[in-house]
Amino acid sequence: MLPQASTEKGAGMADDDESIAALLAELSVPQKAALCLGSDFWHTAPVSEHGIEAVMMSDGPHGLRKQTGRSADAGLRASEAATCFPTASALGCSWDTDLVRQVGAALGAEARAQNIAAVLGPGVNIKRHPLCGRNFEYFSEDPFLSGRLAAAMVDGLQSQQVGGCVKHFAANNQETDRMRVSADVDERTLREIYLPAFEHVVTAARPWLVMCSYNKVNGEYASQHRWLLNDVLREEWGFDGLVVSDWGAVHDRVAALRAGLDLEMPPQLGVSDRAIVDAVAAGSLDEAVLDRAAGRVLRLVLRARDRRPADMDAAAHHAVARRAAAQSLVLLKNDGVLPLTGMAGRTIAVIGEFARTPRFQGAGSSQVSPTQVDVPLDALAAALPGATLRFAAGYLIDGDPPGPTTDAGPSSGSRPATDAGSATDAGSATDADAGQAADAGPGGDLVAEAVGAATGADVVLVFLGLPPAEESEGYDRGHIDLPYAQTSLVERLAKAVHGTPIVAVLCNGGAVRTSTWDHAASAVLECWLAGQAAGSAIADVLTGAVNPSGRLAETLGLRMADCPAYLNFPGEEGHVRYGEGVYVGYRGYDALELPVAYPFGHGLSYSSFSYRDLRISQAGSADAGDLAVTVRCTISNTSDRAGHEVVQVYVADPAAAVARPPRELKAFAKIGLEPGAEQEVMFTLTARDLSYWSALHRRWVLEGGEFRVCVGASSRDIRLSAAITVPATPPPLPLSGISTLTEWLTDPDGGQALRGALGTRPDGRPGGILGSEELLAIIGNMPLATLAAFPGLGVTTELIDTLVAAVIERRAEATLGTPQRW
Ligand code: BGC
Repeated sequence: MLPQASTEKGAGMADDDESIAALLAELSVPQKAALCLGSDFWHTAPVSEHGIEAVMMSDGPHGLRKQTGRSADAGLRASEAATCFPTASALGCSWDTDLVRQVGAALGAEARAQNIAAVLGPGVNIKRHPLCGRNFEYFSEDPFLSGRLAAAMVDGLQSQQVGGCVKHFAANNQETDRMRVSADVDERTLREIYLPAFEHVVTAARPWLVMCSYNKVNGEYASQHRWLLNDVLREEWGFDGLVVSDWGAVHDRVAALRAGLDLEMPPQLGVSDRAIVDAVAAGSLDEAVLDRAAGRVLRLVLRARDRRPADMDAAAHHAVARRAAAQSLVLLKNDGVLPLTGMAGRTIAVIGEFARTPRFQGAGSSQVSPTQVDVPLDALAAALPGATLRFAAGYLIDGDPPGPTTDAGPSSGSRPATDAGSATDAGSATDADAGQAADAGPGGDLVAEAVGAATGADVVLVFLGLPPAEESEGYDRGHIDLPYAQTSLVERLAKAVHGTPIVAVLCNGGAVRTSTWDHAASAVLECWLAGQAAGSAIADVLTGAVNPSGRLAETLGLRMADCPAYLNFPGEEGHVRYGEGVYVGYRGYDALELPVAYPFGHGLSYSSFSYRDLRISQAGSADAGDLAVTVRCTISNTSDRAGHEVVQVYVADPAAAVARPPRELKAFAKIGLEPGAEQEVMFTLTARDLSYWSALHRRWVLEGGEFRVCVGASSRDIRLSAAITVPATPPPLPLSGISTLTEWLTDPDGGQALRGALGTRPDGRPGGILGSEELLAIIGNMPLATLAAFPGLGVTTELIDTLVAAVIERRAEATLGTPQRW
């Protein structure tokens, strides 16, 4: 029998280990095999004879999706009512770990109230390309920001004794062919871009579960990828929880078990369990491997047992959702029309079906049945007493007539259509064209009605967004434009209202192109899919009850073709090559010096802030593994309104041995400042923050020398910067016959061995081939083994063997075998 759950952390784990070991000794191989698969779509397997109950997992990252009815059913059926929090695409823009922790705790409380052992989220896959249909479920294009926010979410969930399950491990950055495609990514790119968010969550927040992805990584299914699941996740990062498959990601149960996948969901009953039992009987699967996996499932059961009951406080959680949404909205543009104050007695036109029929969440496994939904139109009416609101739908959400700004994108699985050839790019469509096209289509009456409502108004609020069918789990988008019915409506309104300010309010999961129409708007508020309270949060920000403080977690490019991953998305014939390498998002836009619509980190406030007094100091050293670079600066609120600033720290290594992005986010803080107040902020950077992943050395390398530390309000709005010099000893080169003569000579050990072996001439010059500068310049790039093939140079295979042995000996007691400390 399993004991009751231990409450003390350290001692408890040890007790649990003992009782799990004792129980495993009592279980038969078929019982242990059964534990390694679920018993239905959402539950682990019970072993009633031994008092082991089944525990339940549920989606999702943005609100609980506990399915009702028969749980053996698959599919996306109705779920219990739950608070729909902002999606990760919105929360990512909060840049606020405390806030995300509170959302996680509220979600955890709801899960506990529903007796859920673990919530299947958060998703920390990197937004490699704006077309990914599931981008609304992911935080950012940046691994540092994604990792910090996801760890806060897991902290919050687990503070309620509900497991977090970080997903989808790894390199699941598209929906096209997601069940099979091989993400072909070099190790440096994996280490610097696609793995760090997982690494941070695992090491800092210790999630109970990690979910492997469907796709292959460099030719091997993630579900049976030993390097990912065992070598990196467990051995390097010390993960001690349960690895669960994405739903249906297992192809070979025994291979997956050997590679480190503990739990298959949903179960292939009678197939996977039998395969495990047979493999143990045949001696091809070590029973110890089965014991470890079954033991981890038992630990999840123990962790979920006997938790205190929790309340589902719907009203309080709605308030959390509203606060979270309000802190996440990003004010992209504002010529001063916002906030809307003094509106009593004025007329506001509210245009756009999305104002009345809000879109606040995405489709697929994260879809929630909300406890209530705040409608923007109603929330605005309540927030603007005395103002007259005139509503007109303007367009049908799903009824876009064909138009020039939207390419007919192919369905998932084929190459996406480009967004070139738009009205602006082609310069061919005039306002009149736009108007005529809209008038001629099925939306003509709606446009006329919207123009009527806007005419004579003091302000025009126009709600725009992506129709739900354009983005979802399961497929990628075909283009990044808003429906033509909407963009043409903006142009038409601008023409009709002659200078009356137009405020665009955007609701979309993935990024949309703004550059073709936002010249017609005085202000643009990007709301993403901000959960069930989005309507109130939008009213809060538009009226100034909340000062906007969201910052973009991804770059909004001018054209899709500018996206660094453009030429390599979504791949073909079963492979997607991550050809842009580490140049994802702003790393690529900045390296290519491309203009963008709105840069990573950008977002306006109704306050203004100034930055001063950058001070940087160093303690410890890279060589000793305890380098700490302290960055301090002072931020002042120079306005008469309280507000939040997101202070961003980027690091650059301008002269590096490998190609590095011009700047990379390595720290941030969101601080609240009263009018006129100032605050010193402090950040600590470690050696890892300055390092790159060396493919040559297969480790992080901090290249000693000069770095630039930049502090700013976006990746393109650097307010302060300074150079620092950080000393570090280069790692010894692995020297062999294939290393060049120059590599041998520049390495301290190799150079000494080679010079010693070739001796000195009577005139004091180096012996053999080392004596001629001219010759050295010509043969310096040749491997020693090649030189050995040329007679008369004095390099032989025997000499190379001697040199390699000498270097190995010299380094034997030196640092080479020392494990890396960061
Ligand atoms: C999704 C996961 C989800 C699972 C269970 C899969 O299709 O990729 O994110 O947790 O289904 O619904």
